[in-house]
Amino acid sequence: MTWAPRTIDPRWVRSRQMLQDRYAQVSRLPDASRLAYLRGRTHTRTEKEIAGIWAKAVAEPAQHGPTLNNLYIHVPFCKSLCTFCNYQRLRPSSPDQLRDYLDRLETSMATIGPAVRDLEWHTLYVGGGTPSTLPAHMLDRLFTSLAKHFRFAKNASRSFEFDPMVMNASRIAVLKKHGFTHFSFGIQTLSPEVNRAHNRGPQGRETIAKRFEELYAAGLHDVAVDFLLGLAGTTPQEIVSDIEWVLDNFRPRGVDVFQISPTVEYVDAFFGGDIDRYWAHLEEFEAGVAEAIPAIAKRLGYSARSGGGHRFAMHRTTLPKGLPSLPQRLTSYTQLVNEARRPLHLLGLGPSARSQVFGTLPIIARTSEVNLEMARCTSDRRWACQMKCGPTLCTTCVIRTPWRGMNSSAYLDWM
Ligand SMILES: C[S@@+](CC[C@H](N)C(=O)[O-])C[C@H]1O[C@@H](n2cnc3c(N)ncnc32)[C@H](O)[C@@H]1O
Ligand code: SF4
Repeated sequence: MTWAPRTIDPRWVRSRQMLQDRYAQVSRLPDASRLAYLRGRTHTRTEKEIAGIWAKAVAEPAQHGPTLNNLYIHVPFCKSLCTFCNYQRLRPSSPDQLRDYLDRLETSMATIGPAVRDLEWHTLYVGGGTPSTLPAHMLDRLFTSLAKHFRFAKNASRSFEFDPMVMNASRIAVLKKHGFTHFSFGIQTLSPEVNRAHNRGPQGRETIAKRFEELYAAGLHDVAVDFLLGLAGTTPQEIVSDIEWVLDNFRPRGVDVFQISPTVEYVDAFFGGDIDRYWAHLEEFEAGVAEAIPAIAKRLGYSARSGGGHRFAMHRTTLPKGLPSLPQRLTSYTQLVNEARRPLHLLGLGPSARSQVFGTLPIIARTSEVNLEMARCTSDRRWACQMKCGPTLCTTCVIRTPWRGMNSSAYLDWM
């Protein structure tokens, strides 16, 4: 049989080209979540309109039967900006900025809360950035407001992310008071020198030990920690022994080992701008760590898995002596509809947080006034901006309007 050459529709070529261009654009941006922009913005909505969409979804459900309702709050602040990080984060320049953020968050709650008053929320996940950048009294204010605007199920699970250098007993006490039982924090490496070189501060074993002790003393034993695979300045042997030290001493509920999604800045700073050097460096870690993890897991009562959301993940399977059994974790906000076996609602509040109604409608909200702020930006341009308003986003804009970048744009895209 002979094959006739097939003509390619030029419209298809054009659309592929546009997609590639779009990808090249967003992949240079430091936040992986911006991939949502791949197909561009299709509709723009104010937060009030988005509240209307939620109200309609609740009043006229697309599917009947119980839904699983998740609330996510993004706190975009960090004490310092780690060299490798690709999340939506910024360093607060003053306590005013944190207050502005809380004011803005409360406006969102007051706008959207009434629209979803009939929903009961099953999970709350507070992520970042570093939510623990908010001091204890601000955390108290945030969760008091949240309880005013949203109704939580009796056994709702509440999770909180923190930086071990920015946590203390008073924040833990507030979190406990507001019902948080699941915690996770970044270790990356136990070397204070390497952490300092990556702008994380001199975080070492002492800090990590203190955080576990404080949480355990408060009766909070559901703790997971993050490590980074292939962080510049570490070796595979060190990462393996770091993980072993943490498991041996504290038996956390879980360990997630992230493979770094490298930003352009990270490759420039540590690999001379050569992405192939980065991949070659990573290969050594792949081999060394993959080989060591199953034996460590077996020795210490963990199950280990590779792939999925993280490069490696370990979960405690046996309860060590002296630790009480853990409160049930209903689910996490990243769960898929087929895992939950029922429709999912996800309401995201804060910059870069995304929402989904019935697991099918992603919404990113912004208010129109942010546009004006952006238009006024003239100085101090140094933030990569995902908006099409220019190559960078001015920090003054960021400071004034925490709803920056992606969420500072009203974005509604039907999938
Ligand atoms: C949002 S941070 C939350 C924890 C907290 N901010 C901290 O750093 O301790 C979650 C985790 O993402 C991981 N991470 C950061 N940048 C990454 C990147 N470029 N690629 C993959 N994982 C990354 C780190 O392991 C970090 O602990
Ligand atoms: S503290 Fe966490 S979120 Fe902030 S820059 Fe570092 S890794 Fe990223």
